[in-house]
Amino acid sequence: MNRPYTFINVAMTADGKIDTFERRGSAISSKRDKERVDQLRAAADGILVGGKTLLEEQPKLTVKSEALREERVKRGVSPNPVKVGVATSVANADISPDSDFIKAGPARVVIFTTSQTSIMKLEGLRALGVEVFVHESPRVDLNKMMVTLKQVGVDHLMVEGGGTINFELMRLRLVDELMIYVAPMVFGGAHAPTLADGLGLPRDAAIGMKLIDVEKWEDGGVFLRYKFS
Ligand SMILES: NC(=O)c1ccc[n+]([C@@H]2O[C@H](COP(=O)([O-])OP(=O)(O)OC[C@H]3O[C@@H](n4cnc5c(N)ncnc54)[C@H](OP(=O)(O)O)[C@@H]3O)[C@@H](O)[C@H]2O)c1
Repeated sequence: MNRPYTFINVAMTADGKIDTFERRGSAISSKRDKERVDQLRAAADGILVGGKTLLEEQPKLTVKSEALREERVKRGVSPNPVKVGVATSVANADISPDSDFIKAGPARVVIFTTSQTSIMKLEGLRALGVEVFVHESPRVDLNKMMVTLKQVGVDHLMVEGGGTINFELMRLRLVDELMIYVAPMVFGGAHAPTLADGLGLPRDAAIGMKLIDVEKWEDGGVFLRYKFS
């Protein structure tokens, strides 16, 4: 494959929401799920988030457990996976040099963007040590991005949302697995983000999957794992 093996991991409510209508990065995962996510992160070479998640939340995307970071180092890799952000435009005010996305680490930070991001901002990001790839297309060319990620050493890529980037990657058949923690709660809200947003597909273009694991957890949640055919 000329792209990384790619899996999406999400925590969603029983009604399919990955945040409330307020879009403040609501906690959905249980303690056990957070530990599972940390293990997935530790096993990945890169962790990718979409532009809204990146710019609104500026997540750390690091491995929380010191023991897991040490295991990575013993394996001869960096303590944290490469952080990958995908943003059509990064405005001057959008990513602070002190943000967790840039600073928490140590980790390589890679941003894919388009020529809608100003040259001044691109230079600013590069001065902070961020590796920036600029596409001439109206949005980031996700096929091209995957080839680049493979070239820079990302063989296993974990995608941590949000719904827009999840959908687009699945639509383009760039995803191998989908893992979902379904929390026992309902957020509701027609505009609350869901696991897969974007424009959507007509029924005859629905993306098929095969359920390969299902677990009922004592915290009331359900863990689901699917493979794409
Ligand atoms: N519960 C969870 O597991 C979880 C995880 C992560 C995030 N979230 C939640 O998800 C929400 C954010 O999701 P979101 O759907 O609004 O945004 P998103 O998926 O985080 O980001 C999508 C952004 O990526 C940019 N982009 C650039 N090239 C693209 C391409 N080729 N295809 C698709 N997008 C491209 C888009 O910019 P343009 O539209 O400007 O082109 C868009 O702004 C937040 O509320 C966050 O808390 C939940």
